[in-house]
Order: sequence, then C-alpha cells, then structure tokens
Amino acid sequence: MTTDSPRGTPLQKFEEEDLPGGRIPKERYTSHEFAQREWEQMWTRTWLLAGPVSDLPTTGSYFTFEIGDESILVVRSAADRISAFYNVCQHRASRVVTKPGCGHTGAFVCPYHLWAYDLDGRLSRVPDREDFGAGLAEGTRLPQVRTDTWGGFVFVNLDPAAAPLEEYLGVVPDHLDPYDFENNYALAQDMTFEWECNWKIGVDAFNEVYHVQGIHPELLDISDDVDCPVDLLGLHSRFLFHVLRPSPRWTDERARREGYRDRHELTAQVRDILKNMGVDPDGFEGDMRHVRKAMMMRLRELGGQGGLDFSQLNDEQLWMDVHYFLFPNVTFNISPGHFWLFRHRPNPRDPNRMFWDFQEYQRIPRGAERPSRPEHVHAVWGDGRENEIHLALRQDGDAAGPLQQGMRSRGFEGLVLAHQERRIRHFHMNLDRYLEG
Ligand SMILES: [Fe+2]
Repeated sequence: MTTDSPRGTPLQKFEEEDLPGGRIPKERYTSHEFAQREWEQMWTRTWLLAGPVSDLPTTGSYFTFEIGDESILVVRSAADRISAFYNVCQHRASRVVTKPGCGHTGAFVCPYHLWAYDLDGRLSRVPDREDFGAGLAEGTRLPQVRTDTWGGFVFVNLDPAAAPLEEYLGVVPDHLDPYDFENNYALAQDMTFEWECNWKIGVDAFNEVYHVQGIHPELLDISDDVDCPVDLLGLHSRFLFHVLRPSPRWTDERARREGYRDRHELTAQVRDILKNMGVDPDGFEGDMRHVRKAMMMRLRELGGQGGLDFSQLNDEQLWMDVHYFLFPNVTFNISPGHFWLFRHRPNPRDPNRMFWDFQEYQRIPRGAERPSRPEHVHAVWGDGRENEIHLALRQDGDAAGPLQQGMRSRGFEGLVLAHQERRIRHFHMNLDRYLEG
C-alpha cells in the first residue's frame, strides 16, 4: 500500500454469522400475500434510497420516488434542508406532482383544484377556502416522511419510529466514504426497466458471481469469478470482485482455443482497457500478471496530474470491482472510474413484475463543473433501450426475467444455494427479520 492512500475501503475478511440452511421457498417470489407482508413489515419500515442529492441543487428542486403504491415527494425546502412528503393532495387524494421525476418549483400546486403547498409542505392556498367552513382544519399539510442523506443520496423511511439512517447503514459509510460519491461522481445514465420477475430476482442476480461462467463467459479472461471474497455486514453485504486477474476457468487450454499463447497473454479486451487508460499495449512490458500494478500506477499518475482524485482509495481498489448490497434493494457496483447503482423496486400490482432502476455515475475531476443531468428513460426490457447499457447487464437482465416462469412451475420447489451464493441466503434471513417483526 502506498503512503498516499491513508484509509481506503477496508478489504480484510470480516467475521461471519451462521446462516440457516434449506431451500428458499419459491412462494416468496410469486405470492401476492407474501408481497403484501413485505410491504407492511419491510418496505414501510426500512431506509430506502430515494435518489441523488445532486437532483436537488437549489431551493425548490424536487424529485419523486415511487415505491409500492406510494409516491414520495423529496424537495430542497431551504438551502440547508431536504424534506420529504407523501405526494398526495389532502383534498381529494390527487397526486400533487403528477409527473414522476425531477423538477423545480416555488410551490407545489395540485393540478386538480389548485390547492397549493409551500416547500415545507404547508397548505398555503385553497381556492374558495371559505366554502369549506370548519371542515378544513388549520395546519393542514402534506404528511411528512422521514429523510436523511448519506454518500450523496437521499434516503426516506415511512416509519416515524425507525432507528436513524446512520445506525441502519452500519459499517457501510465507513467502508464506502473513501469514494466520496457525492463530490467525485456525476450521474451519467438514468434508466428504469420493467422486468417480468419479482424484485428479489433482481437483487439475487447481482449478489453472486457463480453465474459468470454461464452467462458472462467473455469476462473469464479479465476477472476472477472463483476467488471472490464475500462479507456479510449485518443487514448489508458485499463481495470483492478481482478484475484484471483471469479466472482459474480461463485455462491455458481455453486461452489457446481462443488464439492466445497461454492464459497470461494480454487478451483483446485487456489491450483495449490499457489503450483507454493511455497505455500502449504493444509497448507494454509483461503479461496479465503485470496489468493490475500498471493500472494502479497509471491511476495514481492521473490523480497526481490533478485530474481525477484517487488519493483516498487504496491500491487494490484501483483495479477491483467493489460490490455492495444495501438492504433491502440497492446494489452498488464500484470501479474507481465509475460506479453503477441498481435499485430493485416491486411492482405493487403484481409480484411477478418489478422495476429495475439503473444509474451510472462517472468520475469527475475535483472542482469541475458537473455535467448536465441525463434525461430519465423508462422502458420495457426487450423493447431495445436495453442495448444502451453494458453487455454484462444485458445478459443479467435477459437471464432474470425468465426465472419467474420457473418459480411458478409445479416442477420447482424452491431455491438451492451454494456457499458462494450465501449473500442471497443472508438477504432472505434479513427479510425474515423484518417480516417477523
Ligand atoms: Fe451478472
């Protein structure tokens, strides 16, 4: 470790709690009744990532967050204050903000009868107010929702009695703050896809690397899907995916079949990665065993040139894919130059469907002006917009949807999980903790 990496993300193995065994019942993925229990016992009691703070740049900036049947209105109500309210007019239940997404306003005016609420959610104007007589109480307002921030993200909690966010996140801020998501990264892509599966299939899809050999075989020459340390971190979990180190499944024989001398020869995609980093692959001295160190040094060099600041990351993080799951529904897939955020939301009408939110954040130089926010895209998976995202994510999405049909099959009893898939088991165990109160 170099001296200019003071802390970084702790990468040692953490002690692990024992997990229950047995199959995971498939009904958890298909039953309306189970989904209703999840709503009442879990979704309405946990801290949920609502959106990025960067969507609230000035007083009056707002965005909506849709979860279950609720729409939550998140607003910068003053320069130093973020508030959240149920997005429902207290008159006749209209949504106050009818178009989901971000915006900016001086007041929230319900389009139905033009009731107006100020940025603190207080009812400020009612046409023909005297016509309501005593029926309209003084102090009527949009009901408040608890909110707090961490890492450049706004979280909300529908439970007024829930423990604070800081407690809920446990060790996660300590682990991920070195990335400084808020200041070092800017939103570059923002999409929501409708998937034909339960929201937990979305969660599961990213909580193991056992599937790499099956659906991402093209990753085997550049990533180690076998030695992928897992840590269970209370409610949350992580794995550390070693990139730029070939899988043991990328054997000499396999490499030769693909036209390489042996498993250590630089492959076409590694050469591309080097080129993108400004390193000439033809002049590169060494083979795959030397790429990680070269990458690490190159990123340090870029940081030294005053571009991107990697000084808070340790050397391993400069080539590793650091992968965290935040209970109940957020996946962080973090490389030094960018990170992906996946958010898995249930479809409140149907446990067989979900919304998969995909956001990419790109590293920006310190102090640089933030690029303008991309338009949010909402699409049905398979309609073509998925071609705009990374191949591996398309493969994950293609695989996830059809699993739901299998879950409904009379010929399937429930999930059987390997040790390397224990983040999925851990997730179900934590879900049970909420369901059982
Ligand atoms: Fe995958």
